Amino acid sequence: MTDFPQLRLRRLRRTEALRGLIRENRVDIGNLIYPLFIVEGSGIKQEIVSMPGIFHFSVDQLPREIEEIAKLGIPGVILFGIPEHKDEIASSAYHPQGVIQQAIRAIKQSVPELLVATDVCLCEYMSHGHCGIVVNGDVDNDQTLPLLARTALSHAEVGADIVAPSDMMDGRVEVIRRALDEKGLQNIPILSYAAKYASAFYGPFREAAESTPQFGDRRSYQMDPPNLREALREIEQDIAEGADIIMVKPALAYLDVIQQVRGRFNYPLAAYNVSGEYSMVKAAAQQGWLDEKPAVLEILTAIKRAGADIIITYHAKEVSQWLQAP
Ligand code: PBG
Repeated sequence: MTDFPQLRLRRLRRTEALRGLIRENRVDIGNLIYPLFIVEGSGIKQEIVSMPGIFHFSVDQLPREIEEIAKLGIPGVILFGIPEHKDEIASSAYHPQGVIQQAIRAIKQSVPELLVATDVCLCEYMSHGHCGIVVNGDVDNDQTLPLLARTALSHAEVGADIVAPSDMMDGRVEVIRRALDEKGLQNIPILSYAAKYASAFYGPFREAAESTPQFGDRRSYQMDPPNLREALREIEQDIAEGADIIMVKPALAYLDVIQQVRGRFNYPLAAYNVSGEYSMVKAAAQQGWLDEKPAVLEILTAIKRAGADIIITYHAKEVSQWLQAP
């Protein structure tokens, strides 16, 4: 009974209703997080050249955007800040009136129930563009930790629902957890960019966030792309330090990592469908080389199939429109 002609796998592909009935994975808006780039100033809504359809917003322009996002059914956003003032201690990252701190307050005033996650990293705030304190040309792990804790705390204190460290310093989850707990913020979860690779696919983001390192690269802290076992150790470590949600980043070239992590750890798993993955599809679609909607849905479904629960994606708004009116 297991061979052709008795066995015909095409029987269950005959109609859309049959295909839908046995469909194993679906993209659900409820699992998507939409990234937002916030700049200082006012009256700014400016498209990012390397990321068509994605904008820089000043804080005063946020309420309208946030209402639209909420109306589309997207449950949360993740915030990236581009400060005017950069220095060697990232002081704008944890300033009470910093661009992200203001953005959190503005979002919470306009749509309080929308989840606000914040990217906790220092690169956008450093004059040299690295993710930590630089000593003798190298990013010093331990000197960076207190600044990360201070930054995460400053976000949670003004209303962030989730803090998401993306710097790849060892020990950051632990110091952030401790800092939050000491201030009575023990209910704020940490989404850790646990396995974050030194990837070429961050290119468009670095233009958007003005966070390109002024010298060297990030290979001494972000992971080496060929490594899988090391990713599992990173995840193990972040869980031991207190991470509530773990993340693999980027997503597309790392579906095997997502799948392995899913199989080994019973933690909510996020995947970051990064800027380069987004802009490649956009560029090909603009040329007429790809049909954007099915291509995007195929990519996001693949990330789910690999095992991600949560997907951070720049496509979130479009996907939500597509799924509401197919
Ligand atoms: C900050 C950070 C980066 C991204 C997210 N957080 C850039 C980097 O590590 O260079 C990349 C996101 C994307 O490409 O969409 N460190």
